Amino acid sequence: MILVTGATGSVGREVVKQLREGGHPFRALVRTGEGAAKLGLSPAETSVGDFADAASLAAAMKGVAAVYLSCRGGPDQPALEGAAAQAARTAGAGRIVKLSAMAASDMSSTHAKRMNGMAERRVMETGLPYTMLRPTNFMQNFIYYNVAGLAKSRVLRHAVGDARIAFIDTRDIAAIAVAALTEGGHEGRAYDLSGPEALSYHDVAAKLSKATGLAFRYEPISDAELVRALVAGGASPAAARGSLSLQQYYREVGSGAVNAWTEVITGKPARTLDALFAEYAALFKA
Ligand SMILES: NC(=O)c1ccc[n+]([C@@H]2O[C@H](COP(=O)([O-])OP(=O)(O)OC[C@H]3O[C@@H](n4cnc5c(N)ncnc54)[C@H](OP(=O)(O)O)[C@@H]3O)[C@@H](O)[C@H]2O)c1
Repeated sequence: MILVTGATGSVGREVVKQLREGGHPFRALVRTGEGAAKLGLSPAETSVGDFADAASLAAAMKGVAAVYLSCRGGPDQPALEGAAAQAARTAGAGRIVKLSAMAASDMSSTHAKRMNGMAERRVMETGLPYTMLRPTNFMQNFIYYNVAGLAKSRVLRHAVGDARIAFIDTRDIAAIAVAALTEGGHEGRAYDLSGPEALSYHDVAAKLSKATGLAFRYEPISDAELVRALVAGGASPAAARGSLSLQQYYREVGSGAVNAWTEVITGKPARTLDALFAEYAALFKA
């Protein structure tokens, strides 16, 4: 039995789908019945719980051989994922596959990378065999976050200048997670996971324009403008500064290195952003 946490997340939902397609017995940890309904899960495939609720974690982990571990980012991420990893250990699970982030480190000055680095450490401290999946930015962020706003404005605004990012499709991350959950040979590994091409946001805008036949463009903005826009959109100042630290990372360090782990591990080439935009073109036509 495999436990999928973060099952409603952009990678987790694909892990659920691929485990089901592959005929692997799984259980999904969801926080609400609505989450289960969204995934089309039967009660037998579902455990309702929360990383902050120890009793629900213990119930979800019962009889589990492997755990896919994922949570949203934030200052409590290490504690929440640490609690889940400890529960997995107590229940006698055999391995943990954690969704982390490219260049995760508990010393990173980028908030999301530091939180993931601290969470990785908690996982390692359990002594369970682990696999860390460290992807770049998800292509699906374009679909799941404010697609209506982008369709209306047709302007991408980021503080990354001309930095290139090797966006990755969450279905490729999920396929690697499924391999690590169901096959041997991935224990003790940390995989940096990229998509197939290093793209600037000018490239992204050109690809959106090609897929939709509409004119999208990229407008680089300053750090202060980014924080003001995020706060105006409802983010807390601390969360906005956390997002800024990631954009500074892209600008100063970059995230454009392309590697072939998807093809090496799954046997299939990494999905492209052109393919994703062609699939979802209707969403970008306001
Ligand atoms: N987005 C990216 O481009 C990107 C790139 C690289 C790495 N990452 C990393 O990937 C991970 C997921 O990030 P994301 O923003 O993409 O997340 P996401 O898709 O929003 O998924 C987060 C999942 O965690 C669940 N969750 C949140 N709090 C929980 C709790 N207290 N107990 C149990 N489950 C809880 C959510 O459930 P609900 O549906 O109930 O809220 C959801 O299923 C993070 O570690 C992030 O740093 C993201």
